[in-house]
Amino acid sequence: MKKEIVVSGIRSTGNLHLGNYFGAMKNYVKMQDEYPCYFFVADYHSLTTHPDPAGLKKNVYKVLAENIACGLDPEKVTLYVQSDIPEIPELYLILNMLAYKGELEKTASFKEKARNQPDNVNAGLLTYPTLMSADILIHKGQYVPVGKDQEQHLEMSRNFAQRFNHRYGDTFPEPLAFNFGTELVKIPSLDGNGKMSKSENENATIYLCDSDEQILKKVKKAKSDQGPTEPNSQMPDYIENLFALMKLVSKPATVDSFTKDFNECSIRYGDLKMQLANDIIQFISPIREKTIAIQNDLPYLHKLMRMGKEKGRESASKTLDEARKKIGINFYC
Ligand code: ADP
Ligand code: TRP
Repeated sequence: MKKEIVVSGIRSTGNLHLGNYFGAMKNYVKMQDEYPCYFFVADYHSLTTHPDPAGLKKNVYKVLAENIACGLDPEKVTLYVQSDIPEIPELYLILNMLAYKGELEKTASFKEKARNQPDNVNAGLLTYPTLMSADILIHKGQYVPVGKDQEQHLEMSRNFAQRFNHRYGDTFPEPLAFNFGTELVKIPSLDGNGKMSKSENENATIYLCDSDEQILKKVKKAKSDQGPTEPNSQMPDYIENLFALMKLVSKPATVDSFTKDFNECSIRYGDLKMQLANDIIQFISPIREKTIAIQNDLPYLHKLMRMGKEKGRESASKTLDEARKKIGINFYC
C-alpha cells in the first residue's frame, strides 16, 4: 500500500447525487485499495444552514449508508462522523488564529453562500475553510479526493499548513486535491445551469435515491432543441452536458453512435434521453436498493460508527498532541 494519507468528507445536507458520486465517491472507492483512507460525514459543516435536528440525524445515517452502498468498505477505510472526533474542532480553533478575516471573506464559496442566505451570514460560514483544513490536517492528509468546486478550499488548507509550519516548526504536509484522471470533474445539472447540487436545481439533479420514474421524468425534461441543421456543428452546452453524462453511465459504443447521429444531423433527442435515462437507472437502482437496506439497519450503522470513531480518534489525537506541544500548550509533561 502507498503511504500518502487520504482524507475526504461529504456534508450531511441532503441527498447524494451523481455529482457527488463522480466527483468524489468513485475516487474514494478506488483509493481504498491503494492508500490509508479517512472518510467522514461532515455534520458540523452542515450546521451553517441550521438544519432541524431530526432531519440532520437522518441525513447522517443516510450519507453513511450511501457511502457503503457505493462501495466503501468500513473494514478497509476509517469511516466516521465528524462530530465524533472532538480533536477536529480543537485543531479548528488553533487554525483560526492563523486565518485572516480578509482571506476568508474573499473565498468564493463564502461570497456565494452569503449572497444566498443574507440573513444568516454566521461565523461558521466565514470560517468554513478553516474547519475543512482541520478535517484534513488532523490526520496529516496529503491527498483529498474532491470535485472541482473544492479547489480553492484546498489552496487555503495548504496556506494554513504552511503558516503553522513556519511559525511552530514542521508539522503538517500540504494537502492536494486528487483525481485519478488529470482533471477534477464537474457534473453539470440537466437544465444547463451550473452543477448538480444537493440543495439547488432539484429537478435538474439526479439523486442516488431517485426512483426509476423520477430519473426518467428528470432526463426527459432536460433542456434540448430541434437538433443541428448543419453537419458537424458545435454542440450547445446543454447538449454537451447530456453527452457528458452519457459518457459516465453508457457504453462507449452507445456514445459513439449518438455522436455520429449528431454530426450527421439525424439525431433524435427523444431517443438520446430515453437511452440516457435507462443507463442512469441501470447504474443507480442497485445503489438505491442497497442504501435502503443499510439505512434501516441502525445496529449495523452504530457498530461501524463506533469503529470509525475509535480509529479516527487514534490518529487525530496523535496529531493534536504534536500540534499542542509545538505551540507550547502542553503543560503536564
Ligand atoms: P453539494 O455541493 O451537492 O452540497 P458537497 O458540497 O457535500 O455536495 O460535496 C461533496 C463532494 O462532492 C465534494 O468533493 C464535491 O466537490 C463533490 N461534488 C458536489 N457536486 C459536484 C458536481 N456537480 N460535480 C462534481 N463533483 C461534485
Ligand atoms: N467542503 C466540502 C464540500 O462542500 C466537504 C468537506 C468538508 C470536505 N471537509 C472536508 C471535503 C475535508 C474534503 C476534505 O464538498
